[in-house]
Amino acid sequence: MRVRPQHPIQPSEITPEGVYRDRRRFLAQLGMTAIGLATAGCGKAGDAAKAALPAAASPADQAAAAGADFKLDRKTDMAGKEAPTPYQDVTHYNNYYEFGTGKDEPAQYANTLKTRPWSVAVGGECDAPGQVGIDDLLKLFPLEERVYRHRCVEGWSIVVPWDGFALGPFLARFKPNSRAKYVSFSTLYDAKQMPQAGRVLPWPYREGLRIDEAMHPLAFLSMGLYGRNLPNQNGAPLRLTLPWKYGFKSIKSIVGIEFTEQAPQTTWNLSAPDEYGFYANVNPNVDHPRWSQKTERRLGELFKRPTLLFNGYPEVASLYSGLDLRAFY
Ligand code: MTE
Repeated sequence: MRVRPQHPIQPSEITPEGVYRDRRRFLAQLGMTAIGLATAGCGKAGDAAKAALPAAASPADQAAAAGADFKLDRKTDMAGKEAPTPYQDVTHYNNYYEFGTGKDEPAQYANTLKTRPWSVAVGGECDAPGQVGIDDLLKLFPLEERVYRHRCVEGWSIVVPWDGFALGPFLARFKPNSRAKYVSFSTLYDAKQMPQAGRVLPWPYREGLRIDEAMHPLAFLSMGLYGRNLPNQNGAPLRLTLPWKYGFKSIKSIVGIEFTEQAPQTTWNLSAPDEYGFYANVNPNVDHPRWSQKTERRLGELFKRPTLLFNGYPEVASLYSGLDLRAFY
């Protein structure tokens, strides 16, 4: 087994290599081309496969279309200089059970998902419940890029430059009250648009966080990746990105958010409670009953690498001090 060096986490570091450099050039050009691209939508999955990076409208284009002041703060590399996984892999090896259980199925079939108009309803234990349109989000929150590691409980991982904004300030707008101990998230459930929804799992797809986890600065809402609109198969138009937790916590295509006093039910925990806990923090010392969590395979690489506690994000450790991570997996 080839053991790769474990890079320390270095915020503010940029990965300046290969396709990523091209992407930056593209983003620099965007300022000039945003208006021209403003009406283009999210490309179909097949289109995304063929396209060179600058083809589809990006969140920047959408912001321009909405008349918003777009600023992409491109400075947070939380993957410690690890090379981003190629766009093609990130967008063609997916888990999105509403479109099938095969890894290549979401890219083939998620083009039936209509991501405009789209709104997110926020309610429950809060003083300012409301509904927010997806394009208004772009006006409210300047997009920021974060390069994060993403680790699936199945043992594969990727590094992705996501475009989005921090979850905490978004939630704070709805003024959670003192009974808000948890936050629950749900995905659109529409059998017409999502041909496989209704099979295999309890629906709609639901996830949840403790409120302090949701408010942690690493918790992120993504609207794009690689400077482009989030492809449908990756959870357009809005998904959670929680780099220290197994990928199944990062719920896609969110339509509902609720502040709750009790821990909310979550899809994978409901379907197999012995296998999937509420916390789902990446932890090489606690195996899944069917898969060791000690190592992982980065998509595109042959050999496995060691998995790091909290996926290499030690800044979240204080959220769990005093918690038995074996019992609360
Ligand atoms: N969200 C919904 N609505 N449906 C899903 O099937 N799969 C989860 C998560 N979010 C899933 C979901 C799982 S198991 C993983 S590993 C990640 O999405 C995969 O994200 P990616 O396809 O963008 O890599």
